[in-house]
Amino acid sequence: MYKYTCEGDISCGVNIVKDKKNMTDLEKKHSPVISAPGKVNKGELFEVTVEVGKYMKHPNTMGHFIQWIELYSGNTFLGRAEFTPEFSDPKIKMVVMLKHGHPLIAVERCNLHGIWSSEPKSIKVV
Ligand SMILES: [Fe+2]
Repeated sequence: MYKYTCEGDISCGVNIVKDKKNMTDLEKKHSPVISAPGKVNKGELFEVTVEVGKYMKHPNTMGHFIQWIELYSGNTFLGRAEFTPEFSDPKIKMVVMLKHGHPLIAVERCNLHGIWSSEPKSIKVV
């Protein structure tokens, strides 16, 4: 995919953590974190967990909340979960299967702080 430049405007494009060893509070609250096996069998279902706010709790109020999380294998869409503030927390477990060893990528949207991507999670498909 083509990369557009937004020059620090978090409402533009897709935000990612700049320096994993020195994350800002904004990055800690918004970066989706993927938990998945490092190796899976081609065509077999397995579980992936995605959590927003793992490093630092994100607000979950009517005025400020995580609206949705999507999961991809490379550029291939795997699934999406939407949230109602206060009643649901932005942590999901998704059951998926892969045919290719493209990295898993989770993307989320905060209603105030825009769209954030996880770092790609490498996964070996055998
Ligand atoms: Fe936010």
